[in-house]
Amino acid sequence: MADIIDGRAVARQLDEETKAQVDEMIAAGQPRPGLAVVLVGDDGASQVYVRRKIKGCEKVGIRSIERRLPADTSQADLLAVVAELNADPEVNGILVQVPLPEHIDTRTVLSAIDPDKDVDGFHPVNVGRLSTGTGGIVPCTPLGIMKLIDTVVDDLTGLDAVVIGKSNIVGKPVANLLLDREATVTVTHIYTENLPEIARKADIIVAAAGAPELVKGFWVKDGAVIIDVGITRIMGDDGKEKLVGDVAFDEVQHAKAVTPVPGGVGPMTIACLLANTVQAAKTQLEGGNGTDDYGDAPDRSMFTSKSA
Ligand code: GUN
Repeated sequence: MADIIDGRAVARQLDEETKAQVDEMIAAGQPRPGLAVVLVGDDGASQVYVRRKIKGCEKVGIRSIERRLPADTSQADLLAVVAELNADPEVNGILVQVPLPEHIDTRTVLSAIDPDKDVDGFHPVNVGRLSTGTGGIVPCTPLGIMKLIDTVVDDLTGLDAVVIGKSNIVGKPVANLLLDREATVTVTHIYTENLPEIARKADIIVAAAGAPELVKGFWVKDGAVIIDVGITRIMGDDGKEKLVGDVAFDEVQHAKAVTPVPGGVGPMTIACLLANTVQAAKTQLEGGNGTDDYGDAPDRSMFTSKSA
């Protein structure tokens, strides 16, 4: 039987570490970290997510600032709220819940957030920092995935990792994080040919295609580690709705370890958001990541050609 990676337990432990860091900051006379959560409109799922994020803040001692705006808020007014939060020294992290109403350009809004306060890690500056390995804030779900892998694998050097799904939020960033840890990474998606064969070579599979039970037992080699990012509500054989991931969970018991759905990757996302907020607060106390110069100077030698 595969080990079950208990995302709820790992998230609880991360929350304890985050709370300890907040307590340490307060004991040192530093300001309490603050997270601003902006919700535009009344999308039901978004309201649930935002409530959970605010509850998470309470649990670890982060001050939350909730900004609820009506669905007909103009893009200009939303950008003004973002600018105000950027300028507020008591706000260390800003999260604008997506999806935004259709009349608002999501990319414009997310790009307006100060990269040092972008605790989602969605800002192009943070995407660039991640892909060049120059620090910055790492998106919450990919960060959570790496923390789960770390509970069952000591060293990723040279391991074959196959990522299924190429989204900006999960697939691409997690591929970068795996590369940073010296894994050999193959990024695939639903149009990839011979996907089962490619997956079968993997020591680590990250399934993030949003396709229920896509990964079958024969796609998985003995002893692989499987991280299931998918979560879809389907009708079960008994006529009752159930949540399933991108992996046919019952068929992969020959794996070394697998995350369940629910209770695997999901709980890690909010725990990582809270950890990112504290990291952002600390970075800001130290004077920021250097937004103006986009992080540490790169090794220029890679841009220059050597003369023979
Ligand atoms: N909507 C669903 N998940 C997320 C998330 O992680 N961040 C933001 N900003 N919006 C979301």
